[in-house]
Amino acid sequence: MNTITSAITAVGAYVPDFVLSNKVLETMVDTNDEWITSRTGIKERRILKGDKLGTSFLAIKAAQNLIEKSGLDPKEIDMVIVATATPDMPVAATAVYVASQIGAINAFAYDLQAACSGFLYGMSTASAYIQSGRYKKVLLIGADKMSSIIDYTDRATCIIFGDGAGAVLFEPNNEGLGLQDEFLRSDGIGREYLKIDAGGSLLPASKETVENSQHYVFQDGKTVFKYAVTGMADVSAKIMERNNLTNDSVDWLIAHQANRRIIDATASRMELDESKVLINIEKYGNTTSATLPLLLSDFESKFKKGDNLIFAAFGGGFTWGSIYLKWAY
Ligand code: UT7
Repeated sequence: MNTITSAITAVGAYVPDFVLSNKVLETMVDTNDEWITSRTGIKERRILKGDKLGTSFLAIKAAQNLIEKSGLDPKEIDMVIVATATPDMPVAATAVYVASQIGAINAFAYDLQAACSGFLYGMSTASAYIQSGRYKKVLLIGADKMSSIIDYTDRATCIIFGDGAGAVLFEPNNEGLGLQDEFLRSDGIGREYLKIDAGGSLLPASKETVENSQHYVFQDGKTVFKYAVTGMADVSAKIMERNNLTNDSVDWLIAHQANRRIIDATASRMELDESKVLINIEKYGNTTSATLPLLLSDFESKFKKGDNLIFAAFGGGFTWGSIYLKWAY
């Protein structure tokens, strides 16, 4: 039987020009370059400046970069998914506006929210549509303007996050390439440790919530770190085991860039040579939904057709998981 697999056939990305370095953060909060570098691996992050520019601005730029590079006709796109934790607005999905702006006039579109695992879950969603045979071109964008929800007086969070976006196109493949397997998890125990308290239905925005800084990201870093190290390593080991992959047969680890130490722990559990572990956290920090596609974009020239890629992520919720994908070009 000739089954359809779902493959990534094009990649695009965008990061804003403005660089916020550790040195500049030293002037904003009580921190230092040495602490940030040794505890996280981050040297700088990008920040989207300018009035009335939201996550859609980043997403549109990433999609346009993909369209230019690949020569894709946007009218052929069947659906657009934007994975984001920072939509332009709570109501009116960012993806719908993005689809219209890039000329995807025949697509339907919606947002997907799973914090730092948004893009990983989106890969599963996009691929399920392709594998079902219902759609032929699904554009998945991971985009976040984290600077819009970060308190730049809170050293526990402001040193970590940055803004950025990446996009990939999923299409059917008849050579067996593309998504091979996935292992996705979630656990509501996590919502106390990484959250924005206010602005949702539980605690709508009010004068008090603004005064109490409850619209910013709160993170109990130590606890999240503990769960992330175990979670990401477990799912990565699991997906290798059930697909009979060894550290030799895995070509690349594409891991969520939240903290260099979490990535190293995952790679070590997989017994991977460090040359296979893709890292760009030093340049962008944690861009939430954008970390995985930004890695694909930065390292695209290294991938060869048939390469075995393991994707892994961990984020708020908690949400986490791994995906095994064979590169298709
Ligand atoms: O992407 C979504 C998932 N998120 C994550 O995966 C993030 C997981 N968490 C982390 O990456 C780490 O927990 C952090 C980078 C957030 C923090 O690193 P840590 O090694 O867990 O530090 P800590 O919170 O245990 O703090 C250690 C010390 C404390 O001082 P004392 O109590 O030992 O005197 C903190 O007050 O470092 C202090 N500290 C800082 N010092 C300088 C905390 N933040 C800073 C800072 N600069 N920015």
